[in-house]
Formats: sequence, C-alpha cells, structure tokens
Amino acid sequence: MIQPNKSLQAYNTFGVASTAEFFVEIFDRVELAAFFKAHTTEQITVLGGGSNILLTQNLSGIVLKISLTGIEVVEESPQEVILEVQAGESWNDVVSYCLDQDYGGIENLALIPGQMGTAPMQNIGAYGVELKDVFDSCVAMNRETQEFEYFDREACAFGYRESVFKQKLKNKYVICSVRLRLTKTNHRLTLDYGSIKDVLSQSGIDNPSIRDVAAAVISIRQSKLPDPKILGNSGSFFKNPIITKKTADQLKVNYPQLPTYDTGDGQQKIPAAWLIETAGYKGFRQGDAGVHKHQALVLVNYGQATGAEIWRLAQSIQDKVEKEFGIRLMPEVNIY
Ligand code: EPU
Repeated sequence: MIQPNKSLQAYNTFGVASTAEFFVEIFDRVELAAFFKAHTTEQITVLGGGSNILLTQNLSGIVLKISLTGIEVVEESPQEVILEVQAGESWNDVVSYCLDQDYGGIENLALIPGQMGTAPMQNIGAYGVELKDVFDSCVAMNRETQEFEYFDREACAFGYRESVFKQKLKNKYVICSVRLRLTKTNHRLTLDYGSIKDVLSQSGIDNPSIRDVAAAVISIRQSKLPDPKILGNSGSFFKNPIITKKTADQLKVNYPQLPTYDTGDGQQKIPAAWLIETAGYKGFRQGDAGVHKHQALVLVNYGQATGAEIWRLAQSIQDKVEKEFGIRLMPEVNIY
C-alpha cells in the first residue's frame, strides 16, 4: 500500500525530520519486481535500515523500504556453511544467529546497524574484517528490466567502503539477498585490530571463541560509539582518507603524532577522527548538531537537529580540516 506524506523520522538512525511524498514497504521479490514494472516514471529512493543516510530535505517521489526477510542454509560441508540472507534482515540479527549456530566469520562485525541488503553496497567493515571477507555472492534486481541478476565477489568490485553498487551501478540495482560463506570449525579469528586482544586478556581469555570476540567488539563499540536509539547518529560520518606516503611524510613534519596505517599498496590510511579532533571539533556542539565526545568521526543529533544543520556542521569540518591539513574528508554516509 502506497502511503502519502509519510514521516521518515523513525526510518533514519540520525532521527532527523523528513517527509516522503509517497512511501511503500516491500516484503518479497515478486512484489518488488511488480512495483518497478508499474512505476517507470516516478523517482524511487530505496531505503534499507536508514543507518547510513542523512536526510537534508523532504524526499519527492516514492521511498521504498526493503523488508524482505529470511535466513537459510543453502549449502553445507563439515567445515563450511553458505548462508542465504534476504536483504531486509537486520545485520546484527544475522550476527546473533551466526553466534548461536557457531558459524564463524562475522563476529567482528557485531552491532553494526543496518540491513543485510545494504552491507555489500558499502562493504561494511570493523575491527579488521570487511563483508567481502565472507561474501560469496548476491542477487540483485535490475531496476530497469526487473531481472534478478547474480553477482559474485569479483563482480561487486569491493574496496574500502566501496562496491560497484555505489559506483558504476549506482541506483541501477536493488540487492535482494546475500550469500555468506562461514566456517563451522577451525574459525579464523581476527584479533589484531585495536584493543581486541587487550579486552580479551583483561577478561582472562586466552583461547577465545567467536562469542568471546563478539563480546569484546561489543564492549569496545559501546565505549565509543553512541547507540542510535539513544543518540541519533550514522556511525562514521566520513571515510578515513588514503594519501600517498610522500604526503603523509610531509604532514608528519608539522604533526609528528599523526597516526598512519599502511594500506599494503604503498598508500597510507589516516584516521579522519584524528584530523577532526586535532582541528578542535571533538565534542563540539552547534544547536542540536554535534561531534560525539568519545569518537570524533561520529556526528550526532542531540534531539531536534535538522539534516541540513548536521550537513552544515559536516561541511564546516571538511573546510577546517582541509585548511589545516590539505585533506578533503569525503562523507561515508549518503546525503539526500
Ligand atoms: N582517533 C582520534 N580521535 C577520536 C577517535 C579516534 O584521534 O576521537 C584516532 C586514534 O588514533 C585511533 C584511530 O583514530 O586509533 C582509529 O579510531 P577507531 O579505531 O575508533 O576507528 P575509526 O578509524 O575512527 C573505523 C570505521 C568504523 C569501525 C572502526 C573499527 C571508517 C570510516 N570507520 O573507524 O566504522 O567501527 O574503524 O574498525 O572506516 C562506520 O563505518 O560507520 C564505522 C563505525
């Protein structure tokens, strides 16, 4: 059923006010194909969990909320399982399901907000693991032909917070389901990122299970990242910039404390949070728009901020960081 003038406040984790001219929720593939076939001229904005968007205005046309559900084992061997998850499932519910079944591979990605279908879009990642590491394939509907097409990992062209669905095929496909390749035994744990090892050893755990790793990730996240149910936010607002080694070395002359991470291909990843904090913005607040006091990369809505106000704050951060360091931060969230 298409609803006119629908408030989107409950459909974006920033919790900003915005209205969709029309709104429809879709529960299965047949309905999805029929909808696109019937609405060829209207502007259609596809919405997943609303956890990676900033709505700076009301949306004209139709906002289509993806609510396809289902989790199913489609292939299994003694070592591995292939799990097919429909696009509308909550990502964290999938993580919890895998922990319950002892399927390994996504424990470092616990507590990331959002839905399964949007996970490949930006190749979600945290604590040394990215979706691409467990991704087998996905099925996406071509919006123009309504055909369901298969994409393997290569076809998705994953990069750091990137995929073909954000680049060449932007707004051309709707991801319907994703297959994950997970381990049943001999889980390959990723413990090297940040403080995971420290948190585990503080708890006296030296032979961690995937549940222990997820618990460590959850405690680290909860200490730094605000819960969108309590304080509106969209996780990291900007991407961590990747610069050449030469530029990094030049910056280090003036900023010897600048943290840098080798990307493996001669480039250096710089924490945007460090640039923002050093530019003086950590904990900054302007009206109800602010920079989180525990993580400078997270912009927050203290209550009544509009998307436009948050975007203005983001732009002033971009300008100040560029003036100070010569680096233009690029948003990780999608701006509407
Ligand atoms: N730092 C600061 N000030 C701060 C916070 C961090 O200077 O206020 C510096 C520190 O040097 C720290 C470094 O930034 O060591 C990295 O910080 P952190 O480990 O918190 O991670 P991040 O680079 O800010 C990325 C992802 C997060 C993900 C974490 C953990 C991006 C854009 N963000 O953040 O993903 O949870 O690593 O893996 O890559 C998201 O995408 O929404 C997200 C939350």
